[in-house]
Amino acid sequence: MKTTDQFTTAGKLADLKDRYHEAVIASGEVAKEKQHAKGKMTARERITELLDPGSFVELDEFVRHRTTAFGMDAKRPYGDAVVTGTGTIHGRQVAVYSQDFTVFGGSLGEVAGEKIIKVMDLALKTGVPIFGILDSGGARIQEGVVALGKYGEIFRRNTAASGVIPQISIIMGPAAGGAVYSPALTDFVIMVDKTSQMFVTGPDVIKTVTGEDVGMEELGGALTHNSISGVSHYLASDESDALDYARTLVSFLPDNNMAELPVYESNVELEITEADRKINTLIPDSTNQPYDVHEVIRHVVDNQDFLEVQPLFAPNIVIGFARVEGRSVGIVANQPSQMAGTLNIEAGEKASRFVRFCDAFSIPILTLVDVPGFLPGTDQEWTGVIRRGAKLLYAYAEATVPLVTVITRKAYGGAYIVMGSKQLGADINLAWPTAEIAVMGGQGAVNILYRNEIKQAEGAGEDVAAVRTKLANEYTYNVASPFLAAERGELDGVIEPAATRVAVIKALRSLRGKRASLPPKKHGNIPL
Ligand code: HXC
Repeated sequence: MKTTDQFTTAGKLADLKDRYHEAVIASGEVAKEKQHAKGKMTARERITELLDPGSFVELDEFVRHRTTAFGMDAKRPYGDAVVTGTGTIHGRQVAVYSQDFTVFGGSLGEVAGEKIIKVMDLALKTGVPIFGILDSGGARIQEGVVALGKYGEIFRRNTAASGVIPQISIIMGPAAGGAVYSPALTDFVIMVDKTSQMFVTGPDVIKTVTGEDVGMEELGGALTHNSISGVSHYLASDESDALDYARTLVSFLPDNNMAELPVYESNVELEITEADRKINTLIPDSTNQPYDVHEVIRHVVDNQDFLEVQPLFAPNIVIGFARVEGRSVGIVANQPSQMAGTLNIEAGEKASRFVRFCDAFSIPILTLVDVPGFLPGTDQEWTGVIRRGAKLLYAYAEATVPLVTVITRKAYGGAYIVMGSKQLGADINLAWPTAEIAVMGGQGAVNILYRNEIKQAEGAGEDVAAVRTKLANEYTYNVASPFLAAERGELDGVIEPAATRVAVIKALRSLRGKRASLPPKKHGNIPL
């Protein structure tokens, strides 16, 4: 029973104040005690740190559940187990929900589901990015099928929003059971080291069904999902790091698929500089010697500023966002220092999802190529490198955003075609004089083309290794030369490495007005 007078304006205002205090302030204090003890922030603290100061506008803080089963009617806290609302990041409007583990374990029942659905609908209607901060025991056990149904509605909205507004999930506690599929449907999943876990079936069920002994962290911790499964895109050292990454990430993205990309101030030099010339010595004389493709990326982009995505998963391909002349670009680059930059299933899937994201949100793609081919082996063939490797072809071939490709060194076989080749639809294709473009490397080609000559040399007691090297070098010079590709217009130019930064700027400028479309269809059938 309220003590304030409900029949006067002053009384009603005082009542509002009391209720607001109960819903937000008092519950926040309780939450702080519980979460801080575990080294975690509360749901509201996380929102406050994610958004610009003072910008959060809460929705539905007075919502309460309607469940009576299991004595639930005795405990009906305001707001239920999730905090939702809108605010700004870098002055741009966003929507957010943040699960509150201190209320029914952050579990999702009917009304928590309705709150999330409402804010998702608002984000879709207004075309703004949505952030989900997850810390939950999953479907509210007391509410059964009603809770499951709400998850279904959320998954449908995640799917409808896919390619329309950026969706970013930040996992800051458990995400168990089918609940993991909401973040899985979003564009980026950020996890916090040691305090977040995602799994479809937990350690106990696994032990019962398969007999395997595995701990929660090993099974579905942040490191596991960043380095082994590829479910997560960033391993945050703590909650603040996760929120900081999310803020930076969204600075590269448009509000929605119809919106312009954000443009930041920049004053790039349009002449080749002394710093540019340093890149001329990057490629080692020996083609088997690695180098770090990050050096090329940092060299080309504004302020050497590169936000890498999924750095720990399939490091043989590097993906991430940067800016050129203040405008966002997505970068896809083979990494010669990891597995010689070969393409395998993981690398293909990592890059294809990224290419599709960039294409959906009109972010031009810069591809840096140094790839000796697909990784050979039964493991790859039997786990579906044909089906799964085709995704990257599909992603590039379907992309209508500006595509600029620079071949720095090797571009062999199918991998040449996959990595943003002209024939697949790239707009501007450039190569360094160090590029080698052919069906296969010199050594492999010599084994097939010059089998007889090598046998004869063997018979004549000649130095076979020297013969082989001579023939391989001839092949590389005559057949794999970038000038051959340039002669046929498959490259638009061969440039010195030092000219790359300016060439990329000018290529992207020339492509700003690009208009391209695919034949009308309901949707394609990407090999999944
Ligand atoms: C209702 C829940 C809950 C749930 C936790 N709680 N999960 N209440 N429904 N799903 C409550 C607990 O009863 C407890 O309440 C409080 O939250 C804190 O939980 P603890 O167990 O004390 O916390 P902790 O030890 O940190 O363990 C966290 C946990 C564990 C690992 C998440 O609670 C757990 O295993 N929960 C069940 C997970 C699960 O199986 N969920 C269903 C997944 S299937 P009190 O009152 O004691 O504080 C699913 C289907 C989705 O989600 C389907 C989509 C299609």
